[in-house]
Amino acid sequence: MAKKHSEGYLSGKESRRISKENRKITSQLEKQHKRKNVPESEYLTQMHDPNNAVEFDNLHSYFFTDAGTVKAVDGVTFDVPIGKTVGVVGESGCGKSVTSLSLMQLLQRPQGQIVEGEIRLNLGDKAYDITKVPTERMQTLRGNYMSMIFQEPMTSLNPVFRIGAQVDEVIALHDKEGLSKEDIKARTVKLLEMVGIANSEGVYRMYPHELSGGMRQRVMIAMALACSPRVIIADEPTTALDVTIQAQILDLLRNLKDKINSSIMLITHDLGVIAEMADYVVVMYAGRVVEKGTADEIFSNPSHPYTIGLMASKPVVGKKVDKLYSIPGKVPNPINMPNYCYFKDRCEMCVKGCEGEYPHEISLSPTHKVSCYRYYDRKAGE
Ligand SMILES: Nc1ncnc2c1ncn2[C@@H]1O[C@H](COP(=O)(O)OP(=O)(O)OP(=O)(O)O)[C@@H](O)[C@H]1O
Ligand SMILES: [Mg+2]
Repeated sequence: MAKKHSEGYLSGKESRRISKENRKITSQLEKQHKRKNVPESEYLTQMHDPNNAVEFDNLHSYFFTDAGTVKAVDGVTFDVPIGKTVGVVGESGCGKSVTSLSLMQLLQRPQGQIVEGEIRLNLGDKAYDITKVPTERMQTLRGNYMSMIFQEPMTSLNPVFRIGAQVDEVIALHDKEGLSKEDIKARTVKLLEMVGIANSEGVYRMYPHELSGGMRQRVMIAMALACSPRVIIADEPTTALDVTIQAQILDLLRNLKDKINSSIMLITHDLGVIAEMADYVVVMYAGRVVEKGTADEIFSNPSHPYTIGLMASKPVVGKKVDKLYSIPGKVPNPINMPNYCYFKDRCEMCVKGCEGEYPHEISLSPTHKVSCYRYYDRKAGE
């Protein structure tokens, strides 16, 4: 553990020692990733439930920084069933993006690493443990089996290439049928039409800066869907858009999902979006899942004090309040997590036992789970 000065900062010597240690850890992990010709048997695994597209199982993703180890994701377990939408909610910094980037193996490396746990990806006839898949093989999985829609389309589209060329490239890269240039273009134009771009032939020749934010987001969605992936990760896909466009994009995602029967992992801090889209909800807090269940269960019976707080801080049409509720305090520092419930210091519903170690998961129903001392005297299914 890093020694800190009483003022809270690290000395240069201490910081150098940490970075040397980090390099030792990360270079070993990097060597694992970069191996060539790894036999498939090394990363084959078995889905615990064949109806799931993805299973996160006790995932730990850390960042080895000079200031210490950031435990961004610290033991996350949840499933993404085939053909369903799973909403992931939680305050800024709670590890939503890091969870999804771990699935894509797109963590900022070398400092960002998966250090423990499994991510099982269902490929139909077999399953892979993503945490063990070498970098080389990942390139064929991204796009074909899973793809990601990022929050800010302008950072993901290349400003110096035309829209058409960028979508063409995605199709060509994952093409297994040996399509001709004309075929690829035709498919791109069709994709652009499918995501609701009216002038698709015209947009094909445009540069990203010539499009509106909503259109850029649609292009991003078209690129993500180009190869009919089984899992679509949408990380705040509509945060930068106005509400009417947001509704259109969400509709579009839902329709496309049904058309290709894929699963969506929808990350957002907008509970309204979750209520409209999600079949299942996962509530994260400080790198952990504090509550999960079907959307019905979470909205009609929020159980973790954090979820209850989130629900209370959401404005309701027709209900007049002087001031919206806000959860007091802030998220603990991910470098020095306490060894008791991470939410305890902000919790207004503490009970006896809360000062004990981090609470384990309690089943409120076969699908509804919560990690909180308030439910320790309950039996499963009550
Ligand atoms: N490259 C990085 N280096 C060091 N720490 C990082 C890095 N990326 C993320 N983190 C840390 O990991 C934690 C989780 O970040 P993450 O981006 O997953 O949050 P989030 O839940 O997606 O938040 P938001 O809602 O704001 O997008 C944060 O404490 C963040 O500081
Ligand atoms: Mg994020």
